[in-house]
Amino acid sequence: MKKSDYFSLKFEDDRLIFCDQTHLPFEEKYIATDDYEVIADAIRRLAIRGAPAIGIAGAYALALAVKIYSSPIHFSNAYETLLSTRPTAVNLRWALNELKQVYEGLSDTCSAYQNLLERALAIHQDDIEKCRMMGEHGLSIFKKPSVVLTHCNTGRFATGGEGTAFSVLRTANEAGLITMVYADETRPLLQGSRLTAFELSRQGIPFTVLPDSAAASLMSAGMIDLVITGSDRIAVNGDAANKVGTYMLAVLCAYHKIPFYIAAPTSTFDPHCPTGADIPIEQRSATEVLHTSGTPVAFPDAQVYNPSFDVTPASLITGIISENGLHLPPYNFRK
Ligand code: MRU
Repeated sequence: MKKSDYFSLKFEDDRLIFCDQTHLPFEEKYIATDDYEVIADAIRRLAIRGAPAIGIAGAYALALAVKIYSSPIHFSNAYETLLSTRPTAVNLRWALNELKQVYEGLSDTCSAYQNLLERALAIHQDDIEKCRMMGEHGLSIFKKPSVVLTHCNTGRFATGGEGTAFSVLRTANEAGLITMVYADETRPLLQGSRLTAFELSRQGIPFTVLPDSAAASLMSAGMIDLVITGSDRIAVNGDAANKVGTYMLAVLCAYHKIPFYIAAPTSTFDPHCPTGADIPIEQRSATEVLHTSGTPVAFPDAQVYNPSFDVTPASLITGIISENGLHLPPYNFRK
């Protein structure tokens, strides 16, 4: 395998091969399965994660679920199981509904697997292209070689292609427009220091990891030119949910007059959510905060508040990059 050949998802020989991201950065462990429940579990435990990636994995899983038993009851059980794995990233619901439409249009469920798989493969292929386009469009936000701060992981591990915000960083780096990427460690599951650092290193992009709480002092020292993150769901008015801590960055950017951008494919836009208040925020277990990599690190009986995401109001977002270009406020993403 070449140094840059890591991937999150690949479909081969009727099986999904996925990178179990819980082992990174120390072990690149790939699991091959044709069992949709294994994929549902991987999404639940963040072995597969990132909004576009869980949509693509969910689509492959639903196709695999009807490979042997294709009855409506079997389909709907698998659909509900997969939908219930993670509530915030709308890409999952979007992808499952795309397959549901295909299933409902079939005259004979015997051909369900082939038809659903075809749609899942197309969704994956389409995401690769969307990532590429976001990378291209994102170049327009760079006025000069820049120091960029990012949060969570938005690269190959989070998508079917080269990433959302990460794809912008990658193309900008190729164009000589990146002097440094600051990657928030992203508490509590460390998607920044484990996964983004891994990707930046593999791709030869200069980077520095920082505790989430150090972003304010970096900004006040004038060391950040712009911030770019991904999103898990964007409401019609432009309010955007992303990994918890993103809202804090956007507030800091407003205070320090630093541009704050989001990059997300249109599969992340939710025409059914008028505002951010309508976006369901996943609450995760106390263990994630009280333990680090399986080791207890906090007062064991503490009550814990552990929302996986927060919502950044549209008024704090300088621009949103999708595969269609750079969207500027006022936002209106009604279809
Ligand atoms: O809980 P995670 O790791 O799935 O959260 C992922 C993020 O918050 C990403 O920033 C988001 O999915 C958008 S980029 C693909």
